[in-house]
Amino acid sequence: MKILVTGGLGFIGSHTVVELQSKGYDVIIIDNCSNASPEVLKGISAISGKTPEFENIDLREKSTVKEFFSKYPDIEGVIHFAASKAVGESVENPLLYYENNLTPLIYVLQELQYKKNVAFIFSSSCTVYGQADELPITENAPIKPAKSPYGNTKQIGEEIIRDACNVQPQLKAIALRYFNPIGSHPSTEIGEQPTGIPVNLVPYLTQTAIGLRKQLSVFGNDYPTHDGTAIRDYIHVVDLAKAHVVALERMLKNNSDTNYEVFNIGTGTGSSVLEVIRTFEKISESKLNYKTVPRRKGDVTAAYADTKKANKVLGWKAESSLKEAIKSAWKWEQKLRKKV
Ligand code: UFG
Repeated sequence: MKILVTGGLGFIGSHTVVELQSKGYDVIIIDNCSNASPEVLKGISAISGKTPEFENIDLREKSTVKEFFSKYPDIEGVIHFAASKAVGESVENPLLYYENNLTPLIYVLQELQYKKNVAFIFSSSCTVYGQADELPITENAPIKPAKSPYGNTKQIGEEIIRDACNVQPQLKAIALRYFNPIGSHPSTEIGEQPTGIPVNLVPYLTQTAIGLRKQLSVFGNDYPTHDGTAIRDYIHVVDLAKAHVVALERMLKNNSDTNYEVFNIGTGTGSSVLEVIRTFEKISESKLNYKTVPRRKGDVTAAYADTKKANKVLGWKAESSLKEAIKSAWKWEQKLRKKV
């Protein structure tokens, strides 16, 4: 069975490709390499022994998307990762984010809408909840006004899919709302490779520990949490990747309750920034150079998932602990720098 993974050379995409291959799916990747390297293909084949088909094309061109689907009429599932993801950059350049994150989504759905039995998975985000009123966050929590154009593209993306599914019963879709993915594949063949200065906590932390950055800034220690730093739900990227396979199979086996469903994908446990730092220090048996600075604009105090729906309905549960996830991120960072 052929599955298209757009953005399949990226962090979550590449881990998902490997999980799909391990279940026997035939994978074709589309990636325009704007934020990922074709070298990732080597890492994928080193793990699975199989090199996926790869098309370096731009999904923002409607005619290219059309051509692609006529060339591969046998695609039965699409996992759509291709998108830009830097929150700060989206504030600076909102139109680029609306173009990058919404036009490919529309063009792909336009190709899928009249196909029989096609399954579509959308990379959504816990950012759609903003600061939720209740924790842990269930899928029924209200969607709050987005704090950035990036967050807005995830909200609008979900609405686009919902509306398309409303009028096309044969189109099946699932939006997965990720919490904070971290870590790398245990083989250290693939992992997170931020271009330039990382904006996310764990890559910034490991780059500081390896000596690439001078000091980690902890954004705010005056949050109303047990240690004053913000709380997130950090999920191992391999667990997250596996959730995509389970969600895909739910649709392929016609088990969905409705043709558009939404699931939170997290561990259910919240960890503060200081807890992440302490966990890292224990694993690496070293002290991390960090200092507290004022809060970062747009950050919420706390977000962690209620995972009951995913546990029960998908039969999926995150297996790795924070410690295991950070350990794998550290192993990956060490390998990357050795290579350099
Ligand atoms: N943080 C620091 N210092 C840093 C970076 C982050 O203290 O150098 C703090 C943040 O303030 C936050 C926590 O660490 O409290 C996590 O921050 P991240 O930037 O790693 O992740 P976010 O929770 O901000 O989530 C963002 C997007 C999500 C996206 C996620 C992963 O909002 O949609 O990054 O890309 F899924």
